[in-house]
Amino acid sequence: MTTPIDAAATPRLNVVVGVTGGIAAYKAVGVIRELVLLGHDVHVIATEAALRFVGAPTLEAISRNPLNVDLYEGVAEVRHVALGQRADLVVVAPATADFLARTATGIASDLLGNTVLATTAPLVVAPAMHTEMWANPATVANVETLRSRGVTVVGPASGRLTGTDSGPGRMSEPEDIVRAALATLRPRDLAGRRIVVTAGGTREPLDPVRFIGNRSSGRQGVALAEAARDRGADVTLIAAHLEVALPSGVASVEVGTALELAAAVARHSAEADVVIMAAAVADYRPERTADEKIKKDGSGTALTLTLVENPDILKSLAHGELGPRPDGQIVIGFAAETEGDPARFLEIARAKAARKGADFLVVNRVGWTTGFATSDNEIRVLDRAGSIVSDAAGDKVSVAHRILDLLS
Ligand code: C5P
Repeated sequence: MTTPIDAAATPRLNVVVGVTGGIAAYKAVGVIRELVLLGHDVHVIATEAALRFVGAPTLEAISRNPLNVDLYEGVAEVRHVALGQRADLVVVAPATADFLARTATGIASDLLGNTVLATTAPLVVAPAMHTEMWANPATVANVETLRSRGVTVVGPASGRLTGTDSGPGRMSEPEDIVRAALATLRPRDLAGRRIVVTAGGTREPLDPVRFIGNRSSGRQGVALAEAARDRGADVTLIAAHLEVALPSGVASVEVGTALELAAAVARHSAEADVVIMAAAVADYRPERTADEKIKKDGSGTALTLTLVENPDILKSLAHGELGPRPDGQIVIGFAAETEGDPARFLEIARAKAARKGADFLVVNRVGWTTGFATSDNEIRVLDRAGSIVSDAAGDKVSVAHRILDLLS
């Protein structure tokens, strides 16, 4: 499962969705629907060929706006340029080899071609075609030309194609296309920043098959890594047992235990402008890990495990004990608390902020139904002195952006 797209973080946009004539046109309906559900005003332009694959009523009903196809309709309102001029964003999904070639050359032989030339909005294309067509030097050169002009190319993904064959050429999933498209509108305020994010939960092995773990899914950490990437940062994600997929466009380092996470943080934080410690790290690990599976002896006697304390990585990092910290490095810690009384909750959070010594501490309340493994989160951010400097509630991507706003 991927991180949900944030509805709250973007205002209502005027989005043109271009649909060109390939079998993946049926998946364009998903792109349109996703954008509409996020509250955007979506105007679809289909090519004649696209309408052989998907019906005009479907595109109109899903976009909730009249469909645009014909270059010679709406001439009085100069529609061939008006749609592009009004757009905040133009997304073409699927983009056929023919569309990419025409756009690379600037051919405006239909309404979509005119719109693409007339717009100054970001253009995002999601190619879909057979592998041979995608790999053809003509297509490769056209895609290169488009990229060099600032066009965002999403995918294609690799997988089953229309026939029995498979390979690169499948249109990316609608959710991924929409996310990449909306990301083009984000400020690139973290461009050039090196950001290390830890995510997930460590597992401390008892024997070859058992471990002591926690319920962290890694969703908030991954959302932070993706949000930082979308804002232009150079991101390293230190991932411990994520329940979600590793994000694309970030360097990932997979770790298992707290000690492995500590070593990875020590290695990668030395060069980082910002370190965000969102992972749930085990405070204790078994004193020894059995080489063989621990067996019960059937006598009914209790099994006693001896646990030893793990290093507090965040605290050591913040206090410069993992190595010298680069000038101006910002360290952000997380604290999940179960305390239900708001005043007492804040007291615990303030004490922790002072003890850890991080520049910011993000605190949230967790229980069996909140915080962990959900797509929503509710947080407060304290500075080292314990003052509340920010708060946020909503999906984890919006929350991630609010936390990153502290950096700019
Ligand atoms: O003390 P507590 O576990 O609540 O602190 C949470 C914060 O400290 C998180 O940022 C977590 O990544 C970090 N932590 C750590 N090393 C530990 C335990 C927690 O870095 N051994």
